[in-house]
Amino acid sequence: MTFSGVPEAAKTIAESKVQLTHFTGPSDANGLGNVHGGVIMKLVDEAGALACMRHAQSWVVTVAMDSMTFREPILIGSVVTVTAELTYVGTTSMETRVEVIAEHPLTGAKTRTNTAYIVYVAIDTDHRARSVPKLIANTPEERAMMEAAKERQAYRKQQRIKEGA
Ligand SMILES: CC(C)(COP(=O)(O)OP(=O)(O)OC[C@H]1O[C@@H](n2cnc3c(N)ncnc32)[C@H](O)[C@@H]1OP(=O)(O)O)[C@@H](O)C(=O)NCCC(=O)NCCS
Repeated sequence: MTFSGVPEAAKTIAESKVQLTHFTGPSDANGLGNVHGGVIMKLVDEAGALACMRHAQSWVVTVAMDSMTFREPILIGSVVTVTAELTYVGTTSMETRVEVIAEHPLTGAKTRTNTAYIVYVAIDTDHRARSVPKLIANTPEERAMMEAAKERQAYRKQQRIKEGA
């Protein structure tokens, strides 16, 4: 599937927000019988990528994932909801904030188990970086989120320069 149009119009954060829901079962288990961390990381990466694809209307690749902390184990049988929203866009890059909530399917008790920030780059059909639409922050919270993301992206850039990458 290809899409060659370059979307120009700026979009709001809400327009590309993504929510994935997964009912965990035995095939998601690690050796301890809890949900395997890799299952969560894959869902997190997919949700972030989908939000960026919605925003950019193009394929995207993951270029950076900040540290991801697992606050507590997720029990098999939990319903996992992964929410991703854009926090910042550069010229070709986009940062997403991805949050994981584990829910007991019977009691409805919810726990926030992970939060991650992931950077993606939009690519064209030749796998070269391509520009993305601007991002509109509509609320004071969204504007604050965008400012914080801008600082994180500036820090990542400094680190890349330091590491000569
Ligand atoms: C994405 C890719 C095509 C970009 O190549 P490039 O054009 O030479 O890269 P650049 O250095 O110009 O960076 C492009 C953008 O990504 C950003 N970027 C690159 N590396 C980054 C990092 N580690 N952290 C944060 N941002 C990064 C740059 O700041 C730039 O952003 P901007 O255009 O918004 O200013 C190339 O790096 C690539 O193919 N990487 C592998 C991706 C991959 O395979 N991922 C795993 C599977 S999805």
